[in-house]
Order: sequence, then structure tokens, then C-alpha cells
Amino acid sequence: MSTTQIFKNPRAKHGFKGRTCSITSVGSYVPERVLTNAELEKLVDTTDEWITSRTGIKQRRLAADAEFTSDMAAQAARRALENGGLTSDQIDLIIVATITPDMLFPSTACLVQQKLGARRAAAFDIEAACSGFIYALEIGQQFIMSRTYETVLVIGAERLSSIVNWKDRNTCVLFGDGAGAAILQHRPDAHGLLTACMGADGEKAMLLCMPGGGSRIPATADSVEAGLHHLQMDGKETFKCAVNAMLNAAQEALRRCEVDISQIKLVIPHQANRRIIDAVSERLGVRPDQVFVNLDKYGNTSAASVAIALDEAVTQGRIQRGDLVLMVVFGAGLTWAAAVVEW
Ligand code: ACO
Repeated sequence: MSTTQIFKNPRAKHGFKGRTCSITSVGSYVPERVLTNAELEKLVDTTDEWITSRTGIKQRRLAADAEFTSDMAAQAARRALENGGLTSDQIDLIIVATITPDMLFPSTACLVQQKLGARRAAAFDIEAACSGFIYALEIGQQFIMSRTYETVLVIGAERLSSIVNWKDRNTCVLFGDGAGAAILQHRPDAHGLLTACMGADGEKAMLLCMPGGGSRIPATADSVEAGLHHLQMDGKETFKCAVNAMLNAAQEALRRCEVDISQIKLVIPHQANRRIIDAVSERLGVRPDQVFVNLDKYGNTSAASVAIALDEAVTQGRIQRGDLVLMVVFGAGLTWAAAVVEW
């Protein structure tokens, strides 16, 4: 454990019977195709000025026709493996967080396992929408802490362009495609993932959903005609819930670790809307230089959002070993989560 400890590890009350779990490397991938606000002006009744001022988004990435969630996930994973000096046969478990799996089944994680040639790895998906990456980190951590596995690959990956209604200006301007990956391992002398506060409110499940395609409304000509296979959202209500839930989760995570927000080197919030990020940041009392923002380039990539941002923050040198990082997310479900990590 580090000598100059400036926080409390909530797991210490259990006498560290489990091992600590660190994020030992990260990687990300975004598709080449850029869709600008100017191009969207030609698709729906919108303007660059509206999108920029109401959301902060300037452009987003779109997957190629034959590029699927599993392809982007595998690319991000290859980069994380390379950055960590690891090979795919060292992976014990693959968890993919996504709401846009290649298919309802088999899991996208199994397709990624095949693409990586990670034959030893168990594999499954989890679905917690935009909160999926932190949910998956917390799940993956359990396997490291319990000494079940040595190396867990966690991926957030989305091809949201395939479920967006490109005729609905309320939603199509917001989303993009991409993937981010993290390797979880025990690193001696490090606390790593200190805590993750997760929450959900199924009462508000219908605020943000895709009604068709599951067992409730299987695909029929009528369901397709009615647009039930597209993402639907009550933006205004979702916005309010997002600010409150992210703030509460972040404060609870900090409280558990007895960390003041001023000790956090970088806050990496879910990249959905600049106004949500600003409202949460202001209420948390963080300085602008403490907050990582890249949604101007990618829009909301749901489960991939914080994973891509984390990789970019590391690549840009904004996080160094020993720094405290706060990640905070919110999404459909409703779901939310906040994690404090000693990098
Ligand atoms: N271009 C121009 N006008 C638009 C557009 C657009 N692209 N979209 C909506 N408008 C119009 C609306 O029709 C409305 O017009 P009206 O007043 O004539 O009806 C007006 O702009 C204002 O609409 P609001 O909904 O009030 O706009 P708001 O300021 O709330 O911003 C937004 C909308 C950006 C969707 C915002 O509510 C938001 O970001 N919500 C949260 C989204 C989110 O965080 N999702 C989280 C998770 S996503 C996941 O889990 C997959």
C-alpha cells in the first residue's frame, strides 16, 4: 500500500481479505467516419448553433457499414493489451458493457473473445446503458479481489448509430459510435479501484428506452413501421435525473473514501451533454481543469463514453500513477454509478 495515504480504502474494514484491483492499462477505438453538425443540418431540422449551445457536441463518429460493436470492442481491447504488454491468452474473463450488441445472443463478449483469440477467457455482456462501464469495472473487480482471476478485460462498446432514429432531431444529434477497454489486475502496492457506488431506479425505466426487439414487442412489420426499434428519450426529465443522480453518486463515493473533491486530479463524467457536466461540476465544486471533456468530438457513446475518455486522459498525460480519479456516469434504467480510483 502507498506510504503517503491521503484517503481511506473502504475495503480496509474487511481487513483486505480480498486483493486490491487496479486498472493496469487502457485502450480505445473510434471509427473513422466523422459526422458533423453541418451534415446533420441536411438530415433533420436543426442547426450547428442549437446542437452546440444545447449539448456541446460538434461531431460524432459513425461505424462503417460492416463494422459492428464487437469489431470496435476488439480494436479497443487490442490497444489496451498492447499498452499493457499483454497477450490475449492471458485474459481470464471478458465483460462487454453495451446496449447495442451485435445480436441479442450470443453475447458480444463471446464474439470479442473469438476476434482476440482469447481462448482461455470466460465471456459475458452486461447491460446498464451509459452506466455500463463502471458497473462492469465493479463486477470485474470482484473476480480479482476474490483471487478467482488474474486478468479481466472490461470493455464499453456501442454502435448507437444502428438504433438511432435518423429522422428524430430530438435524439439523432446526440449519439455516436466507439469503444473503450480496460485491463484489471492486482498491482502490488496500489489500492486501485477504491469504491464504486452503483444505483438504479426502475420506476423511471421508460424515460429512455428502445421498446421493440425484445420479448415484449418482437419485431413485426407493424413494430418497425411504428419506429419501436429506435431509441426513445424524454430528454428534459432525463436531464434533471442525470444531474441529481451523478451528483449524489459522486458525493457518496468521495465520502466512502474520505476524499475531498480538491484531492481528485481528474473527474471523468459521462459525456452526454455539456450542460449536465457543467451542472454536476459546479455542484461538486471542481475547477474546470479537473474535468475531462471530449463529447465535442464523439457525442454520447453510452457505455463507451467514460472508457474512451479514460484512455484519452491517460494518453494526454492528465493522469499519473498515484493520482485519484473520479468517474461518474448515468444512463437508461435508470442507472448511475461513481468510482474513485487510485491510478
Ligand atoms: N435542433 C433544433 N431544435 C431541437 C432539437 C435539435 N436537434 N432537438 C430538440 N429541439 C427543440 C425541441 O423540439 C423543443 O422545441 P419546442 O420548444 O418547440 O417543443 C426545443 O428544442 C427545446 O427542447 P428541450 O427538450 O427543452 O431541449 P433541452 O434544452 O432539454 O435539450 C436535450 C434537449 C439535449 C436532449 C437534453 O434534454 C439532454 O441532454 N437530456 C439528457 C440526455 C441524457 O443525458 N441521456 C443520458 C443517457 S443516454 C443513454 O443511457 C443511452
